[in-house]
Amino acid sequence: MSVRPQRILTGITTSGTPHLGNYTGAIRPALAATGSAGVENFYFLADLHSLIKSQDPAMTQRSTLEIAATWLACGLDPDTVWFYRQSDVPEINELTWLLTCVAGKGILNRAHAYKAAVDRNREDGQDDDAGVTAGLFMYPVLMAADILIFNADKVPVGRDQVQHIEMARDFGQRFNHVYGRDHFVLPEAVVDEQVATLPGLDGRKMSKSYGNTIPLFAPQDALRKLIFSIVTDSRAPGQAKDTDGSALFQIHQAFASADESAAMRQAFADGIGWGEAKQALFDRIDAEVAPMRETYEMLIAKPEGIEAVLRDGARRLRERYAIPTLERLREAVGLRDLSKVVLAMPDAGDATNVEAAPPLFKQYREADGRFYFKLAQGDRVLLQSPGFEQPREAGQRIAALRRDGFGVADAGLLAEGVDAAEVIAALARLAEADAAKAREKAGGVA
Ligand code: TRP
Repeated sequence: MSVRPQRILTGITTSGTPHLGNYTGAIRPALAATGSAGVENFYFLADLHSLIKSQDPAMTQRSTLEIAATWLACGLDPDTVWFYRQSDVPEINELTWLLTCVAGKGILNRAHAYKAAVDRNREDGQDDDAGVTAGLFMYPVLMAADILIFNADKVPVGRDQVQHIEMARDFGQRFNHVYGRDHFVLPEAVVDEQVATLPGLDGRKMSKSYGNTIPLFAPQDALRKLIFSIVTDSRAPGQAKDTDGSALFQIHQAFASADESAAMRQAFADGIGWGEAKQALFDRIDAEVAPMRETYEMLIAKPEGIEAVLRDGARRLRERYAIPTLERLREAVGLRDLSKVVLAMPDAGDATNVEAAPPLFKQYREADGRFYFKLAQGDRVLLQSPGFEQPREAGQRIAALRRDGFGVADAGLLAEGVDAAEVIAALARLAEADAAKAREKAGGVA
């Protein structure tokens, strides 16, 4: 019996060149969180999303390369986590359409990014949708497909993305409702309150849009120059300095241990000169970044290696999850093989229609005296229960599965090598068959 690991999914928009703020705010914490037992991690380059903002092909390509190389150089191991490029998984696009057809347009009207664009237009006395592409409007649906296709449980995001996760839950829930069962796990946003935003060169939040960034892998001398250009006040060496509101101190803190940070605080109080403090900051950052920079430069020099890693990740992931999932979803919505239509009585025992026959719950007693059940589709066991003392307990658990569908709490029942989506689809077929029987009983009126 296997317990389905928790799935944690992280999307990385491929725009711009990664900077120190991306590193301390996103890359470093995300990679620190990988490798825990019972967790399956998904990291992907959201290159389809990037087209909404950037329509410069050379920049799109360059940024995808740099961001892929950055994550690899920072320690992402493509053998232990899923690492792929969104556009290499066409099933994401296909699911986007299925979700588009259940997504409420009114919900999309309320998306922050879209609403902000409309508000700006109104202020300028323009038409509401002036300059707004359908891509910007549909952004949350594509993002929901990214998440739902792999039934991710947790999605670590910044505050600004929480609404998108809520929308993914909403679209997933609507789809589950319309198509009868828990086809999708509803994801949860995880916002890390610990991670402070890094100030940039001018003291405001480090951000591409302020032009105040320090590229993570700037060559050593460029890094040094940039660090020496961080704003400070005009206090002379020997004068005590304030750590509060000091960009220099905050950036140092993001790289230093607690002890190193305390020492720097003391140095500020003792009147360290700004030049000396900047040199110390440079040394501290470079100590952490230099080994990764070396890997980064090696990787960037061989883009075909990165291309191969990404393609391989997507190929394996499609085989393992995306293709079978879309097969089930197509089936669920009725995009079906016409030759497999069951024209009458689904339980007629037609051997050519095994796939269409509903799965079965089987209850039994083992030699250990305990009561068990399993859910099987033909010869394939999908769910395997633990032993219960009482047959009633087994019966109740089955009733709950039939009534509420398969949820995260049922993960422990999954048989070896079975994906939750498969069980969800099987339970949906069972519910469909039950409903058909009930209609028949009620006099054949649908
Ligand atoms: N919108 C996210 C951002 O701007 C990137 C992203 C795209 C994403 N698809 C995702 C994040 C799916 C999490 C899950 O940061």
